Amino acid sequence: MSLIETLGLAALHRLDPETAHGLSIRALKAGLVPLPGPVTCPRLEVDLAGLKLPNPVGLAAGYDKNAEAVAELMRAGFGFIEVGAATPRAQVGNPKPRLWRLTEDEAAINRFGFNNQGVGTIATRLARRPSGVPVGVNLGANKDSQDRAADFATVLREAGAWIDFATVNVSSPNTEKLRDLQGKEALAALLKGVTSTRDGLARRVPVFLKIAPDLSPAELEDVAEVALGSGIDGIIATNTTLSREGLRSAHAGQQGGLSGAPLFERATRILARLSMLTQGRLPLVGVGGVGSAEQAYEKIRAGASAVQIYTAMVYQGLSLAPRIARGLDALLVRDGFGSVAEAVGTGREKWL
Ligand code: FNR
Repeated sequence: MSLIETLGLAALHRLDPETAHGLSIRALKAGLVPLPGPVTCPRLEVDLAGLKLPNPVGLAAGYDKNAEAVAELMRAGFGFIEVGAATPRAQVGNPKPRLWRLTEDEAAINRFGFNNQGVGTIATRLARRPSGVPVGVNLGANKDSQDRAADFATVLREAGAWIDFATVNVSSPNTEKLRDLQGKEALAALLKGVTSTRDGLARRVPVFLKIAPDLSPAELEDVAEVALGSGIDGIIATNTTLSREGLRSAHAGQQGGLSGAPLFERATRILARLSMLTQGRLPLVGVGGVGSAEQAYEKIRAGASAVQIYTAMVYQGLSLAPRIARGLDALLVRDGFGSVAEAVGTGREKWL
């Protein structure tokens, strides 16, 4: 980290977390954050369900919820970017405060509840972005919706012309009963609606399913079976957890989803099991607690074709993505891999 980044982070951490988050987006938009451009090198290039990623380090959903700083994030070194969650109609989300830093644990707890400006506004911004790094949208449902499954299809239809991929998010813990959509019948019906909407779009948009880290082994088997039969293009594992195991911070008791370092093991075990269950028939994206090149490499060796990061940037700054990408390249060289794809799943056993 540069001195400016260290000082910038120290200043942000004196503010309440949601204000700091908003300011970081404004600083990006104002050109105050140095942007290195995409990290590219043939060894790091990944084909993810047909998407050409310059490198496998992506930005996870929830940071740029409203696609306000996409052009800048595309120059921050990420290999792909996920905005949202977007819901059909704008909504305010849960009452504040709803985001906590758990500094001692290098973690965060949030219960935002899909606050966003709605897919119309978000799609308009996405339409104006430059081309280059793939950008996708995280699909959400309105809190007061009568038909949540239909909401996912609506967001996909309205954003479809302007996105490179979409993610069906049935794993946020902050919208009541949303995670019930991970059950076998509900999930099959939901994915049927979403894939038929995808197939009706003018351009090919891969659709991923994002799952929770708190699924039991039996629930995970069901999800894998449904996903394999559904025609979706990949799985993102995982979202935030309800577990509070091993935390030291005073905010550990807050309700919401826990992200960051304490999630790493749990999310990687789910990823490895999913890799075993799907046997390479669906590409996987590993998310949860990645804060170093070594951890990104662990996710890849556990079965991920690419990774996403969020909470570690709260502690290590926006320069983390290019640092991870370059470190990952060095690890591939060290171990004699000629590409990311060659390393995928080679260390899975350790996590089973
Ligand atoms: C999230 N995450 C998230 N995920 C999602 O699918 N839709 C969303 O809208 C959000 N919103 C959101 C807000 C905040 C403040 C955080 C911290 C996280 C989850 C995120 O994409 C990721 O799956 C987890 O945070 C785990 O990765 P990290 O943070 O441990 O790298």
